Amino acid sequence: MSVMPSLGNGKITVPSILERKSAVSSKGPSAGKITCLTAYDYPTARLLDEAGVDILLVGDSLGMVVLGHESTLPVTLEEMLHHTRAVRRGTRHALLVADMPYGSYHDDPHEAVRNGVRFVKEAGAEAVKVEGGERRLDLISRLVEAEIPVMGHIGLTPQSVNAFGGFRVQGKSASAADQLLRDARAVEAAGAFSVVLESIPRELAARITAELRIPTIGIGAGPDCDGQVLVIHDLVGLSFGHKPKFARRYAELGAMISRAAAEYCRDVREGTFPSDEESYHSRTEQRGTLIPQNQ
Ligand code: KIV
Repeated sequence: MSVMPSLGNGKITVPSILERKSAVSSKGPSAGKITCLTAYDYPTARLLDEAGVDILLVGDSLGMVVLGHESTLPVTLEEMLHHTRAVRRGTRHALLVADMPYGSYHDDPHEAVRNGVRFVKEAGAEAVKVEGGERRLDLISRLVEAEIPVMGHIGLTPQSVNAFGGFRVQGKSASAADQLLRDARAVEAAGAFSVVLESIPRELAARITAELRIPTIGIGAGPDCDGQVLVIHDLVGLSFGHKPKFARRYAELGAMISRAAAEYCRDVREGTFPSDEESYHSRTEQRGTLIPQNQ
């Protein structure tokens, strides 16, 4: 028996994401826009799922925002599987997509497919995301052939940070824009069901969105994409360091956590936490025997 909720109960599926593209084009630019956020753990997944987010992405941004690395490159397959399992347990309605980390699909194509299968079989992902355009054509086709839906990712692909020489906006020159158009077409031709466009000019993202039949999900790619994705830690104010201009903050959880921790330390040090009401008590007849001898 399938544990996957059936169609019609609000479960977001790969076909329903593809249908949004036609909804966006037939009912106007804002109809059916796809919402996607990253999640790396059970409570966040539950909250985002219950808030109605369409796609939860276990991004390899895990390495930077949760594990404290300077890039996504050190993230391992086992770490991604571990966090995807946690997100799976908190997700009922959203489509669950997991990032394949650097090194898990860059060498032997058979190993890449085996790794993709692990995300579905062992961690409950419903799709995987891989970075890169034209040069991933064969890989994406093989994954799709193995029944693994694929989300593409082009533009500023963080796993290419060393090749790019930093986290830089991509596609600004005419030739770079042409290459990104070819990349987008290749990802679609290979059978991906959607593609993330990261940090590229709005005008280029709009052109790619107009041309593709699959939905585009933008991050730093302007408002004309078929959907948007943000890193949850950026959205709720839990990230440190450089804040990209597209990362709108909807809450300041970092400041709230710091304040709460400082108040807790103060209360413990002043002896006001825990109070008598916050303590368990012995039965009345036992209390006398428990009073310390020296009191
Ligand atoms: O790893 C990640 O969080 C991502 C998104 C930024 C698209 O790839």
